[in-house]
Amino acid sequence: MKRLIIACLLVALVVISCSLIWPERFAINAPVAHLLWGRGGGTPDAVTLEARFHPPAGFGVQLWAEELPNVRWMKPTPLGNLLVSLPRAGEIKLVRGDEDGDSRADGVDDLLDGLNRPHGIELVGDWLYVAETDAIGRIRFDDATRTVSGPFERILTGLPGGGNHWSRTIRLGPDGWLYLSVGSSCNVCDEEDDRRAAILRLRPDGSSVETYATGLRNSVGFDWRPGTPQLFATDNGRDLLGDDFPPCELNRIVEGGFYGWPIANGDRIADPDFGAGQAERIAASIPPEHAFRAHNAPLGITFVRGARAPRAYRGAALVALHGSWNRTHKDGYKVVSLHWQPDGSIVERDFLSGFLMDEDVIGRPVDVVEAADGAFFVSDDYAGVIYRVAQGAANTAHATHRRAALSSDPLAAIPAAERGASSRRGEALWSEHACAGCHVAEQAAQGVVVRTLGGLASHYDVAALVSYLKTPIPPMPIVPLDEQAQRDVAVYLLSRFP
Ligand code: HEC
Repeated sequence: MKRLIIACLLVALVVISCSLIWPERFAINAPVAHLLWGRGGGTPDAVTLEARFHPPAGFGVQLWAEELPNVRWMKPTPLGNLLVSLPRAGEIKLVRGDEDGDSRADGVDDLLDGLNRPHGIELVGDWLYVAETDAIGRIRFDDATRTVSGPFERILTGLPGGGNHWSRTIRLGPDGWLYLSVGSSCNVCDEEDDRRAAILRLRPDGSSVETYATGLRNSVGFDWRPGTPQLFATDNGRDLLGDDFPPCELNRIVEGGFYGWPIANGDRIADPDFGAGQAERIAASIPPEHAFRAHNAPLGITFVRGARAPRAYRGAALVALHGSWNRTHKDGYKVVSLHWQPDGSIVERDFLSGFLMDEDVIGRPVDVVEAADGAFFVSDDYAGVIYRVAQGAANTAHATHRRAALSSDPLAAIPAAERGASSRRGEALWSEHACAGCHVAEQAAQGVVVRTLGGLASHYDVAALVSYLKTPIPPMPIVPLDEQAQRDVAVYLLSRFP
């Protein structure tokens, strides 16, 4: 017993003295049980969710599915189901779409098990592709019956697996090739296998494997910018160089491109451990298009394609920031949107934050995808849940009413008599607050850039417009109206600019 006490005291002494001289670059500040054993926090309660999540105006968040431990990658199907990977359990599951109208998934079905850390999922025709840590396999999938059939055939084996960055992401490119990202085996090192820290590509039958781009430490997420052949990939900067360096990256991936790891970080800054004597290669490496804050760990990325998305988000990209672990103060833990500016620069805005508050973590976003109906799903491997972020959805984790938005007539729920009176009050408010001065060409003051309104019913219902008026997208001003007035204006807008 005495020895045990002495041993404990010694350990405590070592820990205390280390923490005094421990440099910031070695700071570890993360949900530790999650780092070590993948143990997360479980589903946050409804009150917490409602208090924490602040989606953009017009959007609401719903808890879509839970009890999916360490859920990682997602693939929405054309019929409204969602395929998800659970790497630790070695499973692929199918989350059923909502047919009973309770704003929740209708349940979770088992599709595949016994896989070796399955992560990436893709659909090509009626094939479901899965990227395990060292292989790619496929099996027939039927969306209508929600089942797989036939054997799971591995079309590519012998990939370098395991190591620090064991997850493999697979996606079908617009050119018909399958693209596969393979992260580095280490934080920073010279790789023995040159398929690591790279994006590879292959034919969907498993042939013609080639290295597409290199120097990418861990590009877990990638997507093609709509209307262009441009491929963008997230990349996680290396650890142990302090709280604020190096940035995490968004890279535009070109064939044969070299993106710097392990000899350079950020915008071609030589790595202190591996950069010496590499000036030429560093100069020739491709710098990021956008820098995320250090240690934010961007993972999934999805360009917004749906025509129903609000104008401000069309063509933008959503990125899941998993959040820091080696940073004195936690950072990241949210979904952000990236907006391309006319000069080519990229502006980053919060899309869904609240996973982190005052150092307290309730979730870690991994992937973000856009479903066929225009809603977005966010997977969280900390709580083991999936959130749905949709326009017009109530911002609640326990929504029981049917999603009202996007029905053909957004005013259908309001009795005709009431609708007329409400709309007339709305029209009066519209005049009183000189809305037309910015929204109707003939009534605009000189020099004002008019933003004509139209097609509102395709992406707003009354609740979504009320929510928009509460926090409009700049430069649209906040107009001081109470809730009833906001509803009246919404009814008027939906009648006049459907
Ligand atoms: C000073 C100019 C200005 C005034 C005044 C103004 N708006 Fe706007 N409004 C804008 C701009 C600019 C946008 C576009 C913002 C963006 O998405 O970039 C906008 C967007 C909107 C949208 C969203 C349109 C869409 O397609 O998503 C609605 C709805 C709206 N305004 C309603 C109103 C109402 C109602 C009033 C009066 C109570 C009002 N606005 C007053 C400038 C104005």
